[in-house]
Amino acid sequence: MDNETVFYRELPKVELHAHLNGSVSSQTIEKLIGRKPHLNIEHSMTAIGKGQLRTLDECFEVFKVIHKLVDTEEDILMVATDVIKEFAADGVKYLELRSTPREEKDTGLTKRSYIETVINAIQQCKSEGVDIDVRFLVAIDRRNGTEVAMETVKLAEDFMLSSDGLVVGLDLSGDPTVGHGKDLLPALQRAKNSGLKLSLHLSEVPSQLEETDLLLNLPPDRIGHGTFLHPAVGGSQSLVDKVVKNNIPLELCLTSNVKGSTVARYSDHHFKYWYQLGHPSVICTDDKGVFCTDLSQEYHLAASTFGLSRADMWKLSQQAIDCIFAPEAVKQQLKQKWNDLHPQVFK
Ligand code: IMP
Ligand code: ZN
Repeated sequence: MDNETVFYRELPKVELHAHLNGSVSSQTIEKLIGRKPHLNIEHSMTAIGKGQLRTLDECFEVFKVIHKLVDTEEDILMVATDVIKEFAADGVKYLELRSTPREEKDTGLTKRSYIETVINAIQQCKSEGVDIDVRFLVAIDRRNGTEVAMETVKLAEDFMLSSDGLVVGLDLSGDPTVGHGKDLLPALQRAKNSGLKLSLHLSEVPSQLEETDLLLNLPPDRIGHGTFLHPAVGGSQSLVDKVVKNNIPLELCLTSNVKGSTVARYSDHHFKYWYQLGHPSVICTDDKGVFCTDLSQEYHLAASTFGLSRADMWKLSQQAIDCIFAPEAVKQQLKQKWNDLHPQVFK
């Protein structure tokens, strides 16, 4: 491993935007394929390799294949524990995983048992002493509409109260070209009122000014992507002003956006715009398995693309602590951890 690679691996990091089924590594996919050979799924169908580009539609097809491979409690337990341990091995000290609870009639999986299983995986890793604090965001898939969104919020509320602080919020994701945010507003409003934190995928594709404006009025606690918020790419100054005024952090995923073809080149990535504004921006992976990356590679990529120093990258990872959904006491613990690790990382 070269010097730079070691630095970015050792840099303590916070991962705030990771979809469980998009984060499944090739090793875990192999194990799943071994469990279900009759599906005839090949590895090339679940990951987008180096230099490959896809349309966003094609990316969503990949998730369908992975969902076929992950359809029992046993699968979810394995996937979640593997993903958590992989993030820990990559130097992630605090992770917010998100996932859309699914029901599978054939295997008896219910949305409730889906969430319980993810929580079990988190607890199992903790009891094994894996050095990472993991929290969970329950995801709403926007394509499923009003009623499912409300049902998901109610489930998330139950788990927020019964999971010992592990369920901290709600995510809105799914194919951004399907459905409209206005149909989901009552559910999101309810979630917010009940104390769930909100991370919403916003302006992931162009021409969603009206929807973005509506959802920004909630306001959300964090924004996923926000690729088309700023005026230069067809967004607007008033959207930017709302984000800035409410100090809503952005979760930015470079490889995901380039491989999913919503950003043409790394150097065009909107990280640059928000970083120059001094706005809280957190580097994340989105789907480390599907996009064949990890968080240390994303930090390295941001540094090399935008000419940032190791000290700048340390500051970025440290500032991400203020954007987490876990309570203040956890932020303090993490800040202490960063202080303790500093000499070792810059040795
Ligand atoms: P899961 O929720 O754990 O099953 O993770 C996969 C799901 O995450 C997909 O089916 C989408 O709903 C969502 N997802 C993953 N990546 C993206 C993205 O870049 N944009 C929007 N939704 C996404
Ligand atoms: Zn995402």
